[in-house]
Amino acid sequence: MAKSNMDQDILKVLFSEQEIHDRIQEMGNQLYDEFHDRNPLFVGVLNGCFLFMADLVRATQCKSEVEFIGLSSYQNATKSSGVVQITRDLQRDISGRDIIVVEDILDSGNTLYFLKDYMLAKGANSITIVTLLDKPSRREKPIYPDLAGFEVPDEFVVGFGLDYCQQYRNMPYIGVLKPEVYSK
Ligand code: XMP
Ligand code: MG
Repeated sequence: MAKSNMDQDILKVLFSEQEIHDRIQEMGNQLYDEFHDRNPLFVGVLNGCFLFMADLVRATQCKSEVEFIGLSSYQNATKSSGVVQITRDLQRDISGRDIIVVEDILDSGNTLYFLKDYMLAKGANSITIVTLLDKPSRREKPIYPDLAGFEVPDEFVVGFGLDYCQQYRNMPYIGVLKPEVYSK
């Protein structure tokens, strides 16, 4: 086990490293079946996607391409502001492409609602939403994942790419932060 000074801030573990690994492999196999003859373009939503993206593209062994977009709506809070900003734009033409959006968590839906419209306006042929976590209880926009790793309750979760104030992204598991950490 690696040394950690983050474990002490975690109230409970929701998904272990092994559970996450196994689920991502299942998701990769499913994506392979659907996309292996379509040269899909994986578009990861930064920053939260970075670990999931790395594992998902390796779990999906089909010819494909990788791209990133930076979006932000949280401004260091634990609730979405509803206003989505592009912090890093797409660097290539996506018209006619079959897009696989890779997100860490679908929560209020504000981020992906914005992104879906944005990519359709840029001429994407199809958009498939893949999220590691889905928190349907907090949805504010009519948007649903095509493929989700796990459903989570209405709690602020961190780890495996998900942050609080940019920290905890490097935890190998996903857990619920102790409330006293973010009420400080
Ligand atoms: P929305 O609310 O727009 O959220 O669907 C999408 C983005 O917000 C971040 N997010 C979270 N990050 N724990 C986190 O660490 C959470 O419980 C959480 N909920 C939303 C996340 O970056 C996601 O891309
Ligand atoms: Mg975040």
